[in-house]
Amino acid sequence: MRTVHSLKELRAILRGYRQQEKTIGLVPTMGNLHEGHISLVRKAAEAADIVVTSIFVNPMQFGANEDLDTYPRTLLNDQNKLGEAGNTLVFAPSAEEVYPDGLARHTRVVVPEVSAGHCGDSRPGHFEGVATVVSVLFNMIQPEFAVFGEKDFQQLAVIRKMVRDLMIPVEVIGAATVREDDGLAKSSRNGYLSEEERAIAPVIYQTLQATAAKITDGHSDFQVLAKEAGESLIAAGLRLDYFNIANSNTLKPAKPDDSDITLLAAAFLGSTRLIDNISVTR
Ligand code: PAJ
Repeated sequence: MRTVHSLKELRAILRGYRQQEKTIGLVPTMGNLHEGHISLVRKAAEAADIVVTSIFVNPMQFGANEDLDTYPRTLLNDQNKLGEAGNTLVFAPSAEEVYPDGLARHTRVVVPEVSAGHCGDSRPGHFEGVATVVSVLFNMIQPEFAVFGEKDFQQLAVIRKMVRDLMIPVEVIGAATVREDDGLAKSSRNGYLSEEERAIAPVIYQTLQATAAKITDGHSDFQVLAKEAGESLIAAGLRLDYFNIANSNTLKPAKPDDSDITLLAAAFLGSTRLIDNISVTR
């Protein structure tokens, strides 16, 4: 399995695959790969002949007080894991390769509606950074398919809308959240947790599940349910960012007669921000 850093080299290799009429699947990541990422690679390999995993810690999607500098960079380990998963090519560009004129002078992609609320409120500019880098990666690689995790539910919605609105000829595939045995969603940021924090972290998924069960049972006072769920996260020792109950398609607050509902939560343990979500259909 090869790793390339330059766009020129990447395009030369991909040209060869295209001449052989191979289809290309892309898995965009920021590295520090775990089983969640690997499940996306496997899914991409089911859809496409060639799988390209990109590894790029995208500065544009990090806020001023976020963890850009400390975000784990583990390329050698990542390459080993990808080789075992049947990935074809790793694309690990530098910031200069992705943003040749610099971040501030780069064209940006703004996706309205679904970027608002939830993480969009707590992380201003985050989804603009995500939509921009994903559109750059799509144009660099020109895949037929791209796989994203439902773990980042709002991100997946933003990418789907961007692809629709900009008529980008890429089929977006969503992949289920991969969890630890105790339910905690796998995340590169779990590595920041102390032993004590790690023991508390599964309460996020437990609270999502308990609240989802109430909705399935017919409760539809979503504001009360969300408030109670947020309070149980606080009682467990987390600092609440949000606990929202939303329409799965619009991501706006769910209405009592909505049938597709997604519960989204974000909370801090110490300085580590964790997110998770689950969807219910009634
Ligand atoms: P990153 O956090 O590295 O995640 C890369 C992909 O892996 C995303 O599609 C994310 O939803 C998925 N993923 C992460 N944890 C997962 C889990 N436990 N189960 C299933 N899928 C999981 O998301 C990003 O990077 C960036 O924003 C990116 C899209 C690469 C743009 O920079």
